[in-house]
Amino acid sequence: MKLVRFETPDDLYEHAAGRVIRIGSEAVAARDRFLVALSGGETPRLLYERLATRAHELDWSSVHVFWSDERCVPPTDARSNYAMARTTLLDHVPIPADRIHRIEGEKPPRDAADAYEAELRRILAEDGRFDLVILGIGSDGHTASLFPGHQSLAEQNRWAVPAHAPVDPAWRVTLTLLPINAARHVLFLVTGAEKAEAVRQLDADKSIPAALVRPANGTLTVLLDRAAASALPE
Ligand code: 6PG
Repeated sequence: MKLVRFETPDDLYEHAAGRVIRIGSEAVAARDRFLVALSGGETPRLLYERLATRAHELDWSSVHVFWSDERCVPPTDARSNYAMARTTLLDHVPIPADRIHRIEGEKPPRDAADAYEAELRRILAEDGRFDLVILGIGSDGHTASLFPGHQSLAEQNRWAVPAHAPVDPAWRVTLTLLPINAARHVLFLVTGAEKAEAVRQLDADKSIPAALVRPANGTLTVLLDRAAASALPE
């Protein structure tokens, strides 16, 4: 795991955008497609906006967009991770509609998870690997919608499952650790002092869900602003 610290969030997002574009360009050159899972929450918002301003640097016709998780709300709901990615990024880049693999949050959680599982297996078919999974971390150490103590952490077969969250919205659909840890690259984006303790536990390999993200044959990079890194040893 590589921790990279940035003085300001702006430096972090500029670096993150460049890293996404580089990984995407390498994937398209090597395999004619870029399979990426976007994180939800608020942290990646500024990354998506920055990627939208650099749209010309990536061949969006070869990009397949998935999500690390989704809240079980309609796609028009302000809490939807899809809605956030659409307004900040997808409405501003020339990505074909059939390359956007939305988790259908408006469906019952089990049905949405089953449909997403089928889509993941259809598109990732060949080697089951994302090129890039972008993740955030909660102050409790959760990532995607994999929360502490949940049975989804031990899932050994499915790639997507329903998840009951301790925060609103209560029901989610999340990737399990299987496709996350099969990825070629995993990138955590973490900003703010409220995440500092979770980052310390991540770095110390404590038993939080985010610390279970250990890609077997991929890179793991954690981009931190100064506040999020404030509990780390100097
Ligand atoms: C979600 C995310 C979740 C998020 C963390 C951090 O659906 O909320 O997938 O895992 O990354 O909760 O959220 P913030 O970026 O809003 O702090």
